[in-house]
Amino acid sequence: MDALIARAINDLAPARRAVALTGAGISIDSGIPPFRGPGGLWERFDPMEIAHIDSFMRNPAKVWKVLVKDLKDVIDAARPNDGHCGLARLEQLGILTSVITQNIDGLHQMAGNTDVIEFHGTFAWQRCMQCDRRIATSKVDASRLPPRCACSGILRPDAVFFGEMIPPVALWRSQEVAARCDVMLVVGTSAVVQPAASMPVIAKEAGAVVIEINPEPTALTGGISDYLIQGKAGDVMNRIVAGLEAKR
Ligand code: APR
Repeated sequence: MDALIARAINDLAPARRAVALTGAGISIDSGIPPFRGPGGLWERFDPMEIAHIDSFMRNPAKVWKVLVKDLKDVIDAARPNDGHCGLARLEQLGILTSVITQNIDGLHQMAGNTDVIEFHGTFAWQRCMQCDRRIATSKVDASRLPPRCACSGILRPDAVFFGEMIPPVALWRSQEVAARCDVMLVVGTSAVVQPAASMPVIAKEAGAVVIEINPEPTALTGGISDYLIQGKAGDVMNRIVAGLEAKR
């Protein structure tokens, strides 16, 4: 791992348009469970039953009870960890410009990154399915499920359910920064969900160095990514940032 950390420091030191693509793995150390693998949400619940727009339309109270209520408490309590803070530090150092995140927890913004593209939307806001008003999740009265808007419309997370399109601006901007980046850091994603998993492909085709940070190999390893640093996001980012600061 030492040699790969040194290689990443050498690749990032001259970079000025680095981009990160992040997934659930970066937020595990903040207490938010992943979707797949040991302890993953999809081991406990069938995603097509509780995270598909059709299942929400069929029975919003059930989805609210299972997904939203559990997730709300966990996300409310979560704070950025060294993985998030490391990416924010790379922005301060003028190396990283943008974070494309599949996460809906808002932790990159809380850590200080200023250009965070929320590819799967956010949990910080709920949206009325009748009048389209957005309401901060912290203001939603979840004592009655599904919660209602003042117009009596049903509230839903402003996040992307399976079966829904990626927000057009998020998709367009992600493709744009991926095509312009000089280094892409792929942190804590299994890279199995499209179209997010195609962003490293766009970066690679544009000539960028693609570096994975993950304790496990992924669908990108040995193909699209140049190398995998097998470790936890927090530990690896601490070592990379320390090495970059030592070079200044
Ligand atoms: N640091 C970095 N990566 C980690 C860590 C850690 N401490 N712990 C686990 N990982 C890795 C796992 O090895 C796995 O590859 O994080 C990845 C998490 O993968 P998933 O649970 O599949 O999450 P993600 O890739 O973000 O899922 C994509 O799928 O269910 C949908 O919409 C949901 O945004 C989500 C999308």
